[in-house]
Amino acid sequence: MTDLYAVFGNPIAHSKSPAIHAAFARASAQDLIYEARLAAVDGFKQAISDFQAAGGKGANVTVPFKEEAYRLCTRLSERAARAGAVNTLVFNGPEIFGDNTDGAGLVCDITHNLACPLAGQRILLLGAGGAARGVIAPLLAARPASLFIANRGADKAKALAKAFSDIAAVNAGNFAETADKSFDIVINATSASLSGESLSLPPGLFATGSLAYDMMYGKGETPFMALARQQGAARCADGLGMLVEQAAEAFFVWRGVHPATSTVLADLRTALNT
Ligand code: ATR
Repeated sequence: MTDLYAVFGNPIAHSKSPAIHAAFARASAQDLIYEARLAAVDGFKQAISDFQAAGGKGANVTVPFKEEAYRLCTRLSERAARAGAVNTLVFNGPEIFGDNTDGAGLVCDITHNLACPLAGQRILLLGAGGAARGVIAPLLAARPASLFIANRGADKAKALAKAFSDIAAVNAGNFAETADKSFDIVINATSASLSGESLSLPPGLFATGSLAYDMMYGKGETPFMALARQQGAARCADGLGMLVEQAAEAFFVWRGVHPATSTVLADLRTALNT
């Protein structure tokens, strides 16, 4: 019987996940259907329980439900527990297992697709919301030389650094506190571009040969990529690869198969830019 999966979010109509998972399923000969499901803002729990009752095997969760999904789970992976958010659910009888593949997706995109090692590098993570929190443990697991979390409000950045201090020492502060430092990899995990705002970063952040990585994506260069290029970043990337790689990791959690990602990513890029 064909297995049923879905992504839950609000809004969800423009989600690329159904196309990504359909491509993975075709390429790996897995018999599954993957749909986009809109959940009411106050109706996530009901939507998930209806989906379980209809025989759903697993689900992805996107904005704004990742924290609610975390609270709904009966069991969590360590990386989901660390992230405080869940983007991948597995249904097994009454059990709801929650995982978070966002950080693994980011790390895979940077180290594999962009061929940029994280080990030994000085990393600056911009933002201290849910998106930033979800990627900190996987970034630290890659053993960078240092990690600095910078946020508009320094308190939130410092709280995050403290929450992960058992893994490694993490520095934190507001954007101005990065002024005398430079970094090999600068990752934008803020939602500034959603409101059309640009970040006020001090000059000199980008070390020679550095990579600027925006977890957001869109047609052409994102505002953060444009800013980073102006400020001297040698390479810029958006988060489309992260989107595909977090999906591949979720596919592996459900099916035990690692789908090939390069063709899917190239096709998505073409579609985005045409
Ligand atoms: P997400 O789940 O996308 O991380 P979030 O939890 O609301 O969303 O967090 C948004 C992040 O983007 C926060 O770090 C926020 O900074 P503050 O904590 O200071 O609010 C950051 N952010 C949003 N708009 C920003 C802007 N215009 N400039 C700088 N940072 C911004």
